[in-house]
Amino acid sequence: MNRFKVSIEKKISRSYEVYIGQDILDRAVLLMAKGNWAKKYFLVTDTNVSALHGQRVMDIFRKMELPAEAIVLPAGERAKTMPTAVALAEELLHRGADRTSGLMALGGGVVGDLTGFVASIFMRGIPYLHMPTTLLAQVDSSIGGKTGVDLPAAKNMLGTFHQPKAVFTDLSFLRTLPGEEFINGLAEIVKCAIIDDPGLLDLLEEKAADLKPDGDLAALIPIVMRTCEIKKKIVEIDEQEHGLRKILNFGHTLGHAIEAEADYAIPHGEAVSIGMAAALVLSERLGHLPAADRDRIIRLLQKTGLPVRMPAGMSSDGVLARMQRDKKKEGNVVHFVLLKSPGMPFVNGGIPDSLIRDIIERL
Ligand SMILES: NC(=O)c1ccc[n+]([C@@H]2O[C@H](COP(=O)([O-])OP(=O)(O)OC[C@H]3O[C@@H](n4cnc5c(N)ncnc54)[C@H](O)[C@@H]3O)[C@@H](O)[C@H]2O)c1
Ligand SMILES: [Zn+2]
Repeated sequence: MNRFKVSIEKKISRSYEVYIGQDILDRAVLLMAKGNWAKKYFLVTDTNVSALHGQRVMDIFRKMELPAEAIVLPAGERAKTMPTAVALAEELLHRGADRTSGLMALGGGVVGDLTGFVASIFMRGIPYLHMPTTLLAQVDSSIGGKTGVDLPAAKNMLGTFHQPKAVFTDLSFLRTLPGEEFINGLAEIVKCAIIDDPGLLDLLEEKAADLKPDGDLAALIPIVMRTCEIKKKIVEIDEQEHGLRKILNFGHTLGHAIEAEADYAIPHGEAVSIGMAAALVLSERLGHLPAADRDRIIRLLQKTGLPVRMPAGMSSDGVLARMQRDKKKEGNVVHFVLLKSPGMPFVNGGIPDSLIRDIIERL
């Protein structure tokens, strides 16, 4: 089992270990018992994960004699709301949770964001841990301590920064993950390679055939590990997204607009992949990125099964209007993360709409 430490502001009290491996659940629960972060754990999960893995995980807690109870939430982004958070808090109270209790998020990013959010406000904050079960949660949402819920008008509008006590990432959960969910994590992996780790780009090209739920999980371990380390490095420097953390938005400016324009019928990873392809074309067009790098990365996206073209029939006016709306949140400028070379991103504000339109229409 691999591990590394995340140290926010270098304060010991806010650093935590991320454990990564295959079939590590026994050891994870043993470490939880040793960690002594809580007397009793509430395992927060969703209906899908509970049906596939809930019993197995609960059995391990029983075997290790660590008190635990499961709370099952509805699955999917639509459950990531304030009413679900309130229902979770009420259920915790009803089951006798107090300040000596801990939460463990057993699920994807939705369960993780909700659990972290409730852990940060329940009785003014109790400890929580992540056991991420989607590739996206394993490489992205379980690291960095961003928690939150959506409002009907916009995603992730209410939230906190609350770091977990530890993260236990077991790749064997991925065996049951539907292919389209796997793709969501894959897009974030390629993103991290592009913005920070040319060596990881090489590795992805080499292992492209294993980048699927039934691929060789052992081959995926170093890929997940390196991606987590990139995210860790960035959030350690900039926990609250004042500057550097923005580069994690590579592909997301247009990606978010595409997602919203499709009324969220297009998965996040696919939208981000199209956004990354556009950012690469834009970087080359503005003279920052060599055409060979643009072509190589776009080929890698295609090789892993990620889309690089605008969805058929999507209106460029609609997408541009969505980006204009986001603009207001950022001082009236659309911030694009662009690339000079693999591992060398930079943030660019003030790209003319006409150029963005041209790129979208030709993509
Ligand atoms: N906090 C952060 O820093 C951060 C970063 C990125 C994304 N997010 C958030 O993460 C969320 C998306 O996360 P996600 O993609 O994991 O979505 P998700 O939690 O909705 O999981 C996707 C689907 O997969 C199912 N599932 C989970 N694990 C499974 C498994 N092992 N086998 C079979 N099915 C499984 C879930 O029930 C769900 O239906 C969004 O709400 C996003 O805002 C947060
Ligand atoms: Zn993303």
